Amino acid sequence: MKALVLAGGAGNRLRPITHTSAKQLLPVGNKPVLFYGLEAIRDTDITEVGIVVGATAPAIQAAVGGGEAFGLDVSYLRQESPLGLADAVLVSQDFLGDDDFVMYLGDIFMLGGIRQLVEDFQGHRPAAQLLVASVPDPRAFGVPELDADGRVVGIEEKPRQPKSDRAVTGVYLFAPAVHDAVAQLTPSSRGEYEISDAVQWLIDKGQAVRSTPFTGRWKDTGSAADLLDANRMLLERLEPQQRGVVDAASELIGPVQIDDNAQISGSRIVGPAVIGAGARVTDSYVGPFTSVAPTCVIANSEVEYSIVLRGASIHGVRRIAASLIGHDVEVTPASRVSRTHRLLLGDHSKVQISC
Ligand code: TTP
Repeated sequence: MKALVLAGGAGNRLRPITHTSAKQLLPVGNKPVLFYGLEAIRDTDITEVGIVVGATAPAIQAAVGGGEAFGLDVSYLRQESPLGLADAVLVSQDFLGDDDFVMYLGDIFMLGGIRQLVEDFQGHRPAAQLLVASVPDPRAFGVPELDADGRVVGIEEKPRQPKSDRAVTGVYLFAPAVHDAVAQLTPSSRGEYEISDAVQWLIDKGQAVRSTPFTGRWKDTGSAADLLDANRMLLERLEPQQRGVVDAASELIGPVQIDDNAQISGSRIVGPAVIGAGARVTDSYVGPFTSVAPTCVIANSEVEYSIVLRGASIHGVRRIAASLIGHDVEVTPASRVSRTHRLLLGDHSKVQISC
């Protein structure tokens, strides 16, 4: 069995961050979301992994390399345009050959692993096995219709009126029959080759499609709000750890992780929160569910429920919350005299100013 990890795509919902970065490398608890998926695959018996890449191929390749750090053997499969999840399978046919495979979306954050799913699949050998979870609003997902035995009797992609409260989580297992399905597809109304249409094709041909319920925690990190929520889920399990330097004028409350060479002075950090290697927090408050990446600087500021990416600096700003701050971003106060906001924002930036 092989694994196919999807790390191409357009990432429109995370612009402008995705103008310059791969969304699968955005950090949850200061670790790229993609790495959690690779670790879940590693924890099964699978070692051969193909990563589908698009425009951000160089960054993904630089981060994962040959997969040695994960104990995996990683190949890269180029998808010229983000034409959909079924197109990603189509361009990977040579790599997949006649093997069964797990398809794992590279921007999914999931705690609890996929061993159960893989074992279910190997026990029954259906044409496809989907990992499904109940969600409050399934309209943004593939929505399966299940019979009493968990067989999938129909599936719709992003339906306006979902037939169940279930969503496909972003992990699928396929037998080679899926290659016949993806070869038949035409683009959907949103212009993509949908993997849900391939699954429906298998059902229509009388092939067995099964589901495995997932009751653990997971998140599609496609938007900033969802990435912050995934970060919260991870930090809820944080164990306190102090490897950096915390001065006597600082206070750490609750689970706080301070990485190597980080320096905390005159600050109050209320966990769960992670301060990355070499970051400096001075005369500031860092609140719960915040991840500060390596080498960031936070001075005379307040930040909570946020993700601050590598190299960003925040000086003299109160109070930043529910925010995703990009690499090497600088946030500072404007001159008090003019009472104006001075902004230099990339295309598709989103700013909410409290006046
Ligand atoms: P999506 O989040 O469904 O799509 P997207 O990345 O294009 O994002 P947006 O809707 O914000 O524009 O993709 C799920 C995962 O699959 C993600 O890791 C990107 C990857 N992907 C591909 O590798 N190829 C594709 O053609 C598409 C659509 C997605």
